[in-house]
Amino acid sequence: VTRPMLRTTDLARLVVQARVTLGAIVVDATVGNGHDTLMLVDAVGPTGCVYGFDVQADALARTRVRLGARTNVELFEAGHERLAALLPVEVHGRISAMMFNLGYLPGAARHITTQSETTKIALKAGLSLLAPGGMITLVLYPGHAAGVEEAASVRAMVAALPVGFSAHSASRLNSVTAAPELIIIERLSSQDIS
Ligand SMILES: C[S@@+](CC[C@H](N)C(=O)[O-])C[C@H]1O[C@@H](n2cnc3c(N)ncnc32)[C@H](O)[C@@H]1O
Repeated sequence: VTRPMLRTTDLARLVVQARVTLGAIVVDATVGNGHDTLMLVDAVGPTGCVYGFDVQADALARTRVRLGARTNVELFEAGHERLAALLPVEVHGRISAMMFNLGYLPGAARHITTQSETTKIALKAGLSLLAPGGMITLVLYPGHAAGVEEAASVRAMVAALPVGFSAHSASRLNSVTAAPELIIIERLSSQDIS
């Protein structure tokens, strides 16, 4: 099996990087080893802020090392299903981008994986906290049992979004194994809703 040069996680980063501007408030809903977190922290700059969530203390500790002296970031050792309660009220409705890279952390315990029920709670909360023009990306992994169920439930939820949202999907077509899927959701601004 060859590793694609453009991975689904790269696509997610490219789309978010193209949208996020200096000073933005954004969320990494699955920090893991902090690759997306670092990209977001640098994209929003010192006047912006990144809020990150993960349930694994080890992963957050590695991410803190990766982030070095950057201060425009707050990491919560908590499940993303608690994001509405943990994000300060002042940023509700002002989130420009939220990234979910679901599943388990490669190299760590595989049972510590995102779960469809808590993912649904987090996605619902995330949608309600987005700024007009804001974006949510999700990378789904239907290559493991919990991931199959989670991918199906996220797809069903996204397909039923009302007119104020727009959603796209992308995945590698010629993969020999179950390909990860990128879902991009935008909250439309009122002038874009016809
Ligand atoms: C695929 S990894 C994320 C990789 C990360 N984006 C990176 O750049 O390294 C998925 C992460 O979700 C975390 N996770 C599992 N359940 C979670 C939950 N309820 N809330 C937040 N994170 C969770 C896992 O601990 C794991 O680190």
